Amino acid sequence: MRDINQFTITEAVKKSFRTEEGSRLKFLLETFIEHLHDYTRETNLTHAEWIGILNFLYDCGQISTPERHEFILLSDVLGFSALVDMINTRGGATEGSNLGPFYLDDAPRLHLGGDLGKGREGAVLLVQGQVRDSLGNPIPGAVIDTWQADSAGTYPIQEQASGQDKYDLRAIVTADDNGEYWYTTVLPKPYTVPYDGPVGRLLRAGQRHAWRASHLHYIIRAEGYRPITTEMFFEGTDYIDNDAVFGVRRSLITKLEAVKKTDILPPTDVKPDAKCHFDFVLAPAG
Ligand code: BEZ
Ligand code: FE
Repeated sequence: MRDINQFTITEAVKKSFRTEEGSRLKFLLETFIEHLHDYTRETNLTHAEWIGILNFLYDCGQISTPERHEFILLSDVLGFSALVDMINTRGGATEGSNLGPFYLDDAPRLHLGGDLGKGREGAVLLVQGQVRDSLGNPIPGAVIDTWQADSAGTYPIQEQASGQDKYDLRAIVTADDNGEYWYTTVLPKPYTVPYDGPVGRLLRAGQRHAWRASHLHYIIRAEGYRPITTEMFFEGTDYIDNDAVFGVRRSLITKLEAVKKTDILPPTDVKPDAKCHFDFVLAPAG
């Protein structure tokens, strides 16, 4: 160890960990150390820059609470979350996209054709489609877990202090025997990711905005299939080509269309102003 230098230190640090031979932990740790050391050598990192990075991470920790995870936000704006989503998308299945911080795993049930918007201000949107397997067969009874912002770009869970119910604008819908689902909701608007903390400083330093394109969140589950976490976006809406967290993929963009009198629509509790169609594809589990 005493002959250690900037070229031998990487092996020395790797060897200092006695992780199980061939284990995933060993692989993840060693690869991380290699890339971190390579980054440091390649950039000729100064002491000021080194402490700057560490203080930035410290600030992320300081502002984090059970409701606000600044490190996830950091991962989002750096495209780290999106990259993990991309790598873990199964061939043939709907592409994955951001879970975001507002998911609750116990949303109320909504019947097919029910209204999620509950008279909220904004355009009433009919969302309809089918859940299929990668061979195109319908998946009867697939479970569609959805949550979204309102027409002002706010999640009710963010507004509990002003009396909003955190379960509003979220629901679990079960597809019919043909894997089809439909419900109405309010058309969400774009919103900003939190930018009053260290990640906001990073965005400003990089002259980046904090806006997310308007979207609906989904987790789709069905017995025997790998669940997918994804988002639906709308063609031609703001920030579709520069979403702050890199969530948009071509395959996740659907068209918003005004409802015409002559349209034949599935039965809904509330008459929609606009409609969109999106089919989800699940890959087998395992
Ligand atoms: C969201 O889509 O809900 C979200 C994603 C990243 C940061 C903040 C919100
Ligand atoms: Fe969101």
